[in-house]
Amino acid sequence: MTPELFRELVAEAALSPNVHNIQPTLWRLVDATTIAMLTHPERTLPWGDPSGRDVTTSLGAAFEGMVIAASKHGIKLSRAATETEAARLVVDGQCDPDPLAAVLTKRRTYRGRFDARRKDEAREKAQSLASRADVRLITRGDDIAAIADQADTATMRFYRDRAYRQELTSWMRLTKLDPNYARDGLNARAMEMSAPLAIAAGMVMQYPTFEILDKLQLAASLTAEAGVTKTASALVAFVQDRDADPFQTGRDWHRLWLEMTALGLAASPLTILGDDEQAATEMSQRLNLTPHQRVVTVLRAGIVDARKLPPPARLPLDEVILA
Ligand SMILES: Cc1cc2nc3c(=O)[nH]c(=O)nc-3n(C[C@H](O)[C@H](O)[C@H](O)COP(=O)(O)O)c2cc1C
Repeated sequence: MTPELFRELVAEAALSPNVHNIQPTLWRLVDATTIAMLTHPERTLPWGDPSGRDVTTSLGAAFEGMVIAASKHGIKLSRAATETEAARLVVDGQCDPDPLAAVLTKRRTYRGRFDARRKDEAREKAQSLASRADVRLITRGDDIAAIADQADTATMRFYRDRAYRQELTSWMRLTKLDPNYARDGLNARAMEMSAPLAIAAGMVMQYPTFEILDKLQLAASLTAEAGVTKTASALVAFVQDRDADPFQTGRDWHRLWLEMTALGLAASPLTILGDDEQAATEMSQRLNLTPHQRVVTVLRAGIVDARKLPPPARLPLDEVILA
């Protein structure tokens, strides 16, 4: 693998989904047949993700992105053992392009409303996911509405933690004046907010504004997402064994999301439904999961005009490739 091709592959792998778009993955070309992946020491979420599970899941998603990107060039990459790096990939012969390669750079997180006129069409597309062992499909309007409300309630439980809010808002890019707007984190466009709304949202999250609004019982309605969630044609619950390796979970999650993209479905995850203990228990009961299984995330899915998808915000390659 030449350094030029490596850069090309990193550019595609860097588009992989990752928690809060913190982009925790660093890449190094070790030699012509070996790629190292490392965790950026500062791109972590010490408060929201103290165990590093979401960061590891993000690295797994990026790993899968790299494998798929290389497959376009007929290069088969496999995971190799490493003790010093997050992961290592080695060239392991040749392969056909992965069927998901065509949508690798097209997948986005879409946090807006879905096209109500195309609900039935979207549900039909989503049906093909129902046969996957790691998916539970929710299409009944009542169920979607109940889960939407549960997600908002769970979000409020997290938001009442001031440090959690502070960490989350540190990754929000509310206006284009923010020098990081197109580089990382969650920008207003990606959050489907107009500039004034984004600024207002940032203010609501501040201490003590949030606490005062919460006492007045206004914070919940100001941060609610249920209205958007209820426009989803389907909810795609992504289920894993409780003891699954988060790195592998990230690989599988990325593939599932790409499969949805290939079906023409836009999506955004509600990971709060897996992260909040109460919500996760409610989801397990609702979906009749075994005690060994858990919901990792629930993806809202539907159809939307491709022009509504936000452009990716990513770091320049020179910041994610190590010499
Ligand atoms: C582990 C993990 C958890 C995520 N949780 C959420 C979530 O709860 N809500 C959300 O809107 N996006 C969530 N995302 C999506 C990321 O925010 C998104 O991938 C990132 O901002 C990059 O944007 P893109 O997917 O459009 O490329 C999650 C992604 C990962 C990998």
